[in-house]
This record gives sequence, C-alpha cells and structure tokens, in this order.
Amino acid sequence: MSHLRVAPGGALMGDIRVPGDKSMSHRSVMFGALAQGQTRVSGFLEGEDALATVAAFRAMGITIDGPDNGQLVIHGKGLQGLTAPSDVLDMGNSGTSMRLLAGILAGQPFDTVLTGDQSLLKRPMGRVMTPLGQMGARIQAEEGGRPPLRISGGQSLSGIHYDLPMASAQVKSSVLLAGLFATGQTSVTEPAPTRDHTERMLRGFGCPVSLTDGVISVSAGATLRGTGIDIPADISSAAFFLVGASIAPGSDLLLRHVGMNPTRVGVINILRLMGADIEEVESREVGGEPVADLRVRYAPLKGIEIPEDQVPLAIDEFPALFIAAACAEGTTILSGAEELRVKESDRIASMAEGLTSLGIANDPRPDGIAIEGGTLGGGTVRTFHDHRIAMSFAIAGLRAHDTIKILDCDHVSTSFPGFASLAQSVGLQLEECAE
Ligand code: S3P
Repeated sequence: MSHLRVAPGGALMGDIRVPGDKSMSHRSVMFGALAQGQTRVSGFLEGEDALATVAAFRAMGITIDGPDNGQLVIHGKGLQGLTAPSDVLDMGNSGTSMRLLAGILAGQPFDTVLTGDQSLLKRPMGRVMTPLGQMGARIQAEEGGRPPLRISGGQSLSGIHYDLPMASAQVKSSVLLAGLFATGQTSVTEPAPTRDHTERMLRGFGCPVSLTDGVISVSAGATLRGTGIDIPADISSAAFFLVGASIAPGSDLLLRHVGMNPTRVGVINILRLMGADIEEVESREVGGEPVADLRVRYAPLKGIEIPEDQVPLAIDEFPALFIAAACAEGTTILSGAEELRVKESDRIASMAEGLTSLGIANDPRPDGIAIEGGTLGGGTVRTFHDHRIAMSFAIAGLRAHDTIKILDCDHVSTSFPGFASLAQSVGLQLEECAE
C-alpha cells in the first residue's frame, strides 16, 4: 500500500498534458471490438480501469495491439463477433466497465460473470439490471443488486423506452448498448443531460443515434465500422491542476489538449463562478469532440451556491472542487448531488472526514455539503481507496500550513498513472512513501 506525503506551499508552473479521457478510452475499446474492421486509437488512457476493459475484450476473443504510448489497435469482429470467455471477467475498480459491459453482454449467446474489487463489489448495479431486465435480459446479482453479476446468454432482447430515474451516463449507455442487440427501437430520456460520449462515438462508428426532443434512441440492425479515434486529455484529471493552480498564489499553468465536451465542463463553469482565471487558449474540434488548451492562473476564490444544473456536468470533479471551496472566502453549498454517495467511495463522507481533519468546517447532507472556506492545516487523511479523494488532498497541500499525509493511494493509477511525477514536475511538493 503506498501513501503520499505533501509538503505545504508552492505554486504550479509549466506546460503539461494529462492522460487521456477515461470515459472515451473505455468506449473506444468496446465499440472498436463490436465494429467491423480495425479501430486505431491514440491518446488512450493506460490506467487500470481502461486496461480492465481491454482485458475483458481480449478474453472474449478480440485481438487488441498495445497500448503503446497511448496507441491501441482493436481488430473488431462485428456485433456478433464476441466469444465466450473462459473465466470470470474482472472489472477491477471500474464501474463504467461493469455497467456498460452488462448492456453488451445481456445480448450475447453465452453466459458471463462480472466481478470487481472491494469498492466495485459495494456499488449498485440494480440501476442497470432494472432496464436491462425490462428488455428481456437475465441478470442475477448479490443482495442489494451488488456485483458479481451473473448474466445468462441466449436471451432475446426487445427494445424499450426507459426514463432514467437518475442522471447517469453509465445507465444511459448500458441501455443503448443493449439496444444494439435488441429488436426494434431502444430509447432513453434523462432527468438532466449527462456525458454524451456514447452517442457521439457510436455516430463516429457509423451507427445512427438520434436525439429528438430529449429522447435518445438506437435501432436494431445497425452496424459499426472501424474508425480512428483521437482521445483528448481527461478534463477530470485536468481538474486537479485547474483547482491547484487556482488556489496557489503565483501559479501559471498550461494544460494541453483538454477535452471540452459541453457535458463535461461543469468544473470550469463552477470554478469561474468562484472567480477562477481560466482561459481557453486555442479551441478546436478533434474527432467530433471539442478540445482546448487551458491557461490557469492563481485567483482569489469566493464561496458560491453551486447551480444544480452543473452537478451532472461536474460529477467526478467535486472532490477537487471541495478543495477549492476550502480555500475560498465564504461558504460553498452543494445540493442535488446524492449520486456522489455511490461513486468509488461515498465522496461526500470521504471528503467531509478529510476536510475536518485538516481543520475545515463542513456540514455534510444527504445530497451535498456546505464547506466553510478557511485555513487548511496539516494532518493525515484517509482515501477510502478512492483515486479522486487521494489526488484532491494532494493538491490541497499547495495551500496547507503543514504536511498532509494521504493514506492508501494505490488507486490513483486507475485513472491517472504518473500523477505524482507529473504533479512534482509542475511544483507540487509530494513524495510517495511506504510508511
Ligand atoms: C461515466 C459516468 C459517470 C462518471 C464515471 C464515468 C461514464 O458515472 O461518474 O466516472 O464513463 O459513463 P454515472 O453514470 O454513475 O454518473
């Protein structure tokens, strides 16, 4: 088990590119495997989560070359090309792999079992089992809809319309992917817009996905054709540096080639409302996704009431945003974010505990938290094996008055391999330690 120790102070300076987008990396492998012909991917995230997806498709007979320096070639075999794996498929820490794969595997002729690590085994899968069951899938889970999932093959699926009860791109994607194996049309509506990488990328593979009056649908009989995919840097990984540079006086940092999909930019919108100085230096479109270089400089932040419509657009960035709130003048209030309780850890509880140990007053609520800006002290914080909790407390060191020790940081490599050395290279004074 490795821990991180961050010395107080410093500023972030330099010009960096963070690793590739996790959501897009997963989808590139899944859709590439289901496409006919080769898919060439660049900018692929070589983190454990995306590698779990690669391993699962290899186990189902798909040849995948790489990853090598972010390059991956998937030799797709078409919608009917997967073969039965000889073993249980282990998704590690990755909820995206498990929920999206459940949709794909519900429509296969063979049985599969999906399992994961201690964190994933606690996460709710009923949210995908319900709509997939309505389509005719047979999936068994443990008590409370927890993994492992036992998916029975050979079921005939029928298209449905499903009104998502929660804003979840994973549930939306799971249903739409099952729709590729179902008769007729499969459609969903969402209570609020969530990341739309599935829709955009399926279209890039030549598979029609329609969006009319908020109804997203796919139809039976589609084919996916192999394509080229250039994955931008993950805005969720960039978020730690956006917050870090915003809170540390003297910072001036350039983040290259960041994915700026409108369904993902909540962190920038929220930081700007707090007073952050974030400039889009060069905006462009790459492979159907907007991308920009971002220049972020220190600026004094103020507490705000976070607009609820921004919550799904920043859902993975709240741990980092809570550090911004701790360094802001006044109170920041988040509500409408109960989904944070079912992420890799209960992120409201995990962050509340850590902020309290560092001397920041906060008031956790069922669907959010109020954070009083103040003086960050030093201390020891737990991560609950959650990568984003670890990285958030690492950047907190920039404004802390004493050393912060962050316990159990192994999971950082699920989404951000090389975080510690990249952060050191731009001025964060952190070191890995065994004790
Ligand atoms: C993801 C969707 C979100 C997000 C997760 C990745 C995706 O989860 O938190 O990190 O790639 O579709 P939910 O669908 O549970 O909101």
